[in-house]
Amino acid sequence: MAVAWYDWAGGTKWLKHYSSAQNILIVGDGDFSFSLALATAFGSGANLVATSLDSYAELNTKYSDATSNVTKLEAMGATVLHGVDVKDMNLHANLQLRWFDRIVFNFPHAGFNGREDEVDVIKSHQELVRSFFATARHMIWRHGEIHVTHKTKHPFSMWGIEQLASEFSLVMVEQAAFQIQDYPGYNHKRGSSWRCDQNFAIGDCSTFKFRLF
Ligand SMILES: C[S@@+](CC[C@H](N)C(=O)[O-])C[C@H]1O[C@@H](n2cnc3c(N)ncnc32)[C@H](O)[C@@H]1O
Repeated sequence: MAVAWYDWAGGTKWLKHYSSAQNILIVGDGDFSFSLALATAFGSGANLVATSLDSYAELNTKYSDATSNVTKLEAMGATVLHGVDVKDMNLHANLQLRWFDRIVFNFPHAGFNGREDEVDVIKSHQELVRSFFATARHMIWRHGEIHVTHKTKHPFSMWGIEQLASEFSLVMVEQAAFQIQDYPGYNHKRGSSWRCDQNFAIGDCSTFKFRLF
């Protein structure tokens, strides 16, 4: 069952870890269904910045629902940006000199370039996550959090998410079990290859939450 609730006193709406009172940056979104799940729960996208590495034209060819999800997000007041690479997102014209309460990267993945248990494949994923931490740490408020949702079973456990974060003076504050049904409408995507619009098997996953040390 989805974990959505409403704080009647403060007028704040929550979905699992996220609230309408937080400024939230979502990076590496697939078909923008995760961002739309948040905006729908909040009744507004005003505090959301939803981004993809893909250009708008690429989204249109890769995903069946991305452009309609983007249209809905924009209608709800969200900022939607394309061509945002986590490696240099802190220098992006619309993101530099902006700070967030939460920065979220769900299922970072550098692409299907071999078996997931190959050393070089794991290294390529680790480099992506490293570059995300390196830039995201400059974009959160002092008590803000960086969230990475990731599979926890072998070989994905080999990425060493907590160790990677520590290289950038980020300390883990929680590892919370991830359940996709907590985010109604979220359609987790493979994101690359000819099967980019397909879901992948989720299995055991966690949302790893980090703060500045
Ligand atoms: C497995 S998919 C997950 C997509 C989406 N987060 C979801 O949960 O449906 C991996 C995503 O990482 C993104 N990605 C890979 N390299 C990236 C980079 N350098 N900057 C931003 N996003 C990147 C891909 O574009 C793809 O959307």
